[in-house]
Amino acid sequence: MDHFNYRNGELFAEDVPVSEIAERFGTPAYVYSRATLERHYRAYDDAMSGLPHLVCYAVKANSNLAVLNVLARLGAGFDIVSAGELERVLRAGGTASKVVFSGVGKQEWEMRRALEAGVRCFNVESDTELDRLNAVAGELGVRAPVSLRVNPDVDAGTHPYISTGLKENKFGIDIAEAPAVYARASRLPNLNIIGVDCHIGSQLTSVDPFLDALDRVVELIDTLAEQGITIRHLDMGGGLGVTYDQEHPPQPSDYVRALVERLGDRQLELVVEPGRSIAANAGILLTRVEILKCTEHKNFAVIDAAMNDLIRPALYSAWQAIVPAKPRQDGAEKSWDLVGPVCETGDFLGKDRNLSLQPGDLLAVRSAGAYGFVMSSNYNTRNRPPELMVDGDQVHVVRRRETLEDQLAPESCLPE
Ligand code: LLP
Repeated sequence: MDHFNYRNGELFAEDVPVSEIAERFGTPAYVYSRATLERHYRAYDDAMSGLPHLVCYAVKANSNLAVLNVLARLGAGFDIVSAGELERVLRAGGTASKVVFSGVGKQEWEMRRALEAGVRCFNVESDTELDRLNAVAGELGVRAPVSLRVNPDVDAGTHPYISTGLKENKFGIDIAEAPAVYARASRLPNLNIIGVDCHIGSQLTSVDPFLDALDRVVELIDTLAEQGITIRHLDMGGGLGVTYDQEHPPQPSDYVRALVERLGDRQLELVVEPGRSIAANAGILLTRVEILKCTEHKNFAVIDAAMNDLIRPALYSAWQAIVPAKPRQDGAEKSWDLVGPVCETGDFLGKDRNLSLQPGDLLAVRSAGAYGFVMSSNYNTRNRPPELMVDGDQVHVVRRRETLEDQLAPESCLPE
């Protein structure tokens, strides 16, 4: 459920007609809904209220400071993958002691910064990283809190680019080797082993792969207990899917209930790292129809948003709903390919969409709050769109539209 709904024949973001937003701020523009972000975060937090837990929003999904701030105010933790994301969290009012640091390629300076800030846990992905972290912590005279990210080798049944829990993926430590790696980690003087972590993929639409992963991880926790290594913190990663089209992913409450049932009365703190399921349907991308171009084979609607603004359709053949701000009652629908102005055949946001369109019409690409703006680029020297956050009847600019000056500032010509 989100707060982008039709009222009196036009699309609203919370209490504001999106047509008004487009008039005021221009297009293309990302529009987020505070109430939706809060609702999605609370769905997790409430479902976990009976047990020690931490909901660590995956910053990569949408790292706008206002988004992080809205969640920080609710007490959220954060899952980061770079020192840059850590600085964002801190500037947005997040708490370092609620931050988990994931990622396969943490650099020494990033580890140092995270240790100084006092993050809750490093999700360590390799043997080499263990040694590096041990050394950096030693230099600082501290002990680094550690979980090993294990790869449970389960098929998440999702797109190959966003599936991460299979043996052939670059992520994590093979679960079969984990007991030996834990044993070694426990002998490193500057590490404090607190947990186990896994993340098996993204946009999962069933709980079964999560439960398969959980079973394997729990077995590992028991093996480690026999080795004298006590695990207190269990991080199941992110990955719960959302409805883009006809998918029926489990609700966070169903997902959490299934995990908790499987855990029984084990004394563990449960951590999750949801990104998409909090942010995706809390955002839309507003775009206007520039030109209609009908050929013998296809009808193209050239819109003012492009693959540089939202790359998911081009990169993953992802399908996102595209809806009119004010559906036309009169005109007949036609099948349109919605394409951007970028010089690439792959520059489309939707194909074969039945819509009644006229030049100047305002459209909304739905489910654009996660992996939208964060994956945007300046390809074709296009200024990136603004990010706006609606809160009731208020619209806040939470990132202004880029200018050409912003884009060119870091560049220079060769000397004369
Ligand atoms: N934790 C870790 C360690 C992750 O790698 C990810 C996402 C998450 C949490 C959050 O997963 P989520 O709840 O959002 O599924 N750009 C792709 C998605 C890439 C996901 C990468 N990792 C897309 O647009 O579909």
